Amino acid sequence: MTGIEQRRILNTAIPGPRSAALQARKNAAVSAGVSTGLPVYVERAGGGILVDVDGNQLIDFGSGIAVTTVGNAAPRVVERVQAQAADFTHTCFMVTPYAEYVEVAEALAELTPGDHEKRSALFNSGAEAVENAVKIARSATGRQAVVAFDHAYHGRTNLTMSLTAKNMPYKHRFGPFAGEIYRVPMAYPYRWPTGPDNCAEEAFAQFAAQVHAQVGEENTAAVIIEPIQGEGGFVVPPDGFLTRVADWCRDNGVLLIADEIQTGFCRTGDWFACDHEGVVPDLITTAKGIAGGLPLAAVTGRAEIMDAVHPGGLGGTYGGNPVACAAALGAIETMKAEDLPGRARAVEALFVPRLREMAAKYVQIGDVRGRGAMLAIELVSDPVAKTPDPALTAAVNKACHAEGLVTLTAGTYGNVLRFLPPLSSPDHLLTEGLDILEGAFAASV
Ligand SMILES: Cc1ncc(COP(=O)(O)O)c(C=O)c1O
Repeated sequence: MTGIEQRRILNTAIPGPRSAALQARKNAAVSAGVSTGLPVYVERAGGGILVDVDGNQLIDFGSGIAVTTVGNAAPRVVERVQAQAADFTHTCFMVTPYAEYVEVAEALAELTPGDHEKRSALFNSGAEAVENAVKIARSATGRQAVVAFDHAYHGRTNLTMSLTAKNMPYKHRFGPFAGEIYRVPMAYPYRWPTGPDNCAEEAFAQFAAQVHAQVGEENTAAVIIEPIQGEGGFVVPPDGFLTRVADWCRDNGVLLIADEIQTGFCRTGDWFACDHEGVVPDLITTAKGIAGGLPLAAVTGRAEIMDAVHPGGLGGTYGGNPVACAAALGAIETMKAEDLPGRARAVEALFVPRLREMAAKYVQIGDVRGRGAMLAIELVSDPVAKTPDPALTAAVNKACHAEGLVTLTAGTYGNVLRFLPPLSSPDHLLTEGLDILEGAFAASV
């Protein structure tokens, strides 16, 4: 793990002077549209630690937004990347192909839900994978409509912004958006009007009724859903909701696209979040954790759907770049060798009791939720009215940062603190991070 001592060290205020100087240069050179949540400039990272340019060592509860699941600079990833970069860096798979792309597609066929025959296509980013999943679904079904959920996040390109539910900061002033996108309610247990026990059944009933009345089953190419919503606030649908949606899709000739870009590759304690309930999507999009930090994304699906697209209809100059593929093979090897689904479940076992203890102490913690190493707390100013408290959320987040703990916020209402530690984090750093979080809470409420 890159030889970094697994210890938090604060040499300076956070951010320190070297980071501050770099941030001044950033402001003069980088678009203001690209903002930084915690402007410490990173020099090295590994295990559960980020080392910044001032020599501070921060505890990472973010994994670069759920990417470095195997850890930063994970040894098998580094070895494979170095060897591949020395061999060749690019040919374009569509021109003169190479084995690493095929090996990643084979691994995806093996690991993704379902034992049917599968095919994959590789891309560079999550948004690009989602765009292509929609292209494939439309081509295979001959239908146009796509159904997406409240609180969804699918990316920042035009089509994926259109699928994304939240205006600020993702969509504001960026319209017009793509057509033939329809939005339905999400099964959000904490905020379900008649209570969590009714959520699965009622949310499904609303989904089915709205698609029938407003879109028409026969016009619907696909339903796209994050099995646990990411940017929308780690909303975990109640058991039974996803299976009902999957059954409805099958009964109506509608393709189910599981967007597992944030949840996939061991993050939730299974290889994929769909595995939790045995849901088998027709198409699955992956990215983030797949390649230990290198840009790689994929659409994997039923062979007959993926092969319905005409030759040349899918691709791109860099999609499935050989160095990114080598990284993915190293990451997947690590996940298997180190049983990272099991490690994610151990992280859940360590976090959840602590978060629940905090929730018992602070009424502002309205909900503790998530699965595996994808966990969150939702903050409210009034526990009965469940009034979102984005100001407290921002204050706790900031207080964590000041103590050298990298935390992230999320949620449609900006009132969710989310925890996505690398699965290479030792327990003592996770515990220390939770202590810091608790201290930040005590100081902020
Ligand atoms: C569920 C989901 N879909 C799509 C995306 C977009 O991925 P990318 O940022 O790689 O384009 C994200 C990124 O956060 C995501 O969480």
